[in-house]
Amino acid sequence: MFSSRLPSALEENAVTRVHARLRTAGTEIIDLTETNPTRVGLHYPADLHAMLAAPAALSYTPEPLGMLSAREAVAREYARQGLTVSLDRIVLTGSTSEAYSLLFKLLCDAGDEVLIPQPSYPLFELLSRLDLVTTVPYALHMHGGWSLDRDGIASALSARTRAVLVVSPNNPTGSVLSADDAVWLDELCAARDIAIIADEVFLDYSLRGSRLHAVAERVTTALTFSLGGLSKSAGLPQMKLGWVAVSGPNALVQRALHALELICDTYLSVATPVQVAAASLIKAGAALRGSIHERVMINLAACRARVAGRGDVTMLEPEAGWCVVLQMPATESEEALVLRLLEQEHVLVHPGYFFDFPREAFLVLSLLPEPDVFADGLARVLRA
Ligand SMILES: Cc1ncc(COP(=O)(O)O)c(C=O)c1O
Repeated sequence: MFSSRLPSALEENAVTRVHARLRTAGTEIIDLTETNPTRVGLHYPADLHAMLAAPAALSYTPEPLGMLSAREAVAREYARQGLTVSLDRIVLTGSTSEAYSLLFKLLCDAGDEVLIPQPSYPLFELLSRLDLVTTVPYALHMHGGWSLDRDGIASALSARTRAVLVVSPNNPTGSVLSADDAVWLDELCAARDIAIIADEVFLDYSLRGSRLHAVAERVTTALTFSLGGLSKSAGLPQMKLGWVAVSGPNALVQRALHALELICDTYLSVATPVQVAAASLIKAGAALRGSIHERVMINLAACRARVAGRGDVTMLEPEAGWCVVLQMPATESEEALVLRLLEQEHVLVHPGYFFDFPREAFLVLSLLPEPDVFADGLARVLRA
């Protein structure tokens, strides 16, 4: 009865099952997979929701690509991040996840391919599958830092490749696309009429002090879609507002925008209140972004200090983002380790395989939890 877009196995994995069982039994679990900023004790100003109640939100004037005032606010966000984007090249979406779906509809027929990085954000598999798009992985190589496997990308391209996804900063490695890799990818994709989808939701979270460069600062000849949204840059995932900036050769950009207008007009999924409030929410988001950044830096420093000098565990230094990766002794499988941490130490962490790390054993820890919670959880991980 149901379509084959859905994965055949819908049952929960072993980690989710054990976690649910322990919680039902009343066990308190320290959750180091928590990446929802609204659940980690950060201060959300009381007047945030009032921004959604402006009288202007009562009248409905559908704008497929988004209301002008909201797109102006987003253009200022890109400018703050160092990218000049004109208003007519900005498209509003309900979230970054929705932006992927719109772009897959724009670029891909059923069975077409998009290249996705590994390790990276696990939702790509499902997002593409739901749009009948096939993902073809390419590796990020780890050698001190992370870089594109250029040979791997070149040989993964086929006549059906429609886009290469880059996530910069990447989740969970915290790695950033280098200038050299960006220029190389630009040439490769432009020469073959392949689009670049640059997911930059974590661009504001540099952990080394220096400003991070948007991919479109370096990629200039390939058709490029730069993705951002309130969820990470303003710490407001509940508001459901994402955006896409389109860049590249003008003729291609215009065709893409026309088609996106039709796709967006079909759904009109971005609610009026959040569009009316966009400028205020983005402004308020600056303080939240600051608090999240501070939180991430505190937990990262704690992690660095706790792991330093241990021969058996290595912290992979992230350049940016909200996560840290620990390389663990591969004396048992990641799944066995994560289940043991859950059952014995009552701490939940993500196994590396969840993000398609090429080998074992890695653990991914969110840097968002409150510092005492993070320190307690980390101590349990290291003790085990
Ligand atoms: C790399 C990356 N892209 C996109 C998203 C989803 O963002 P949104 O909440 O805007 O859909 C996430 C969420 O964790 C993410 O890690």
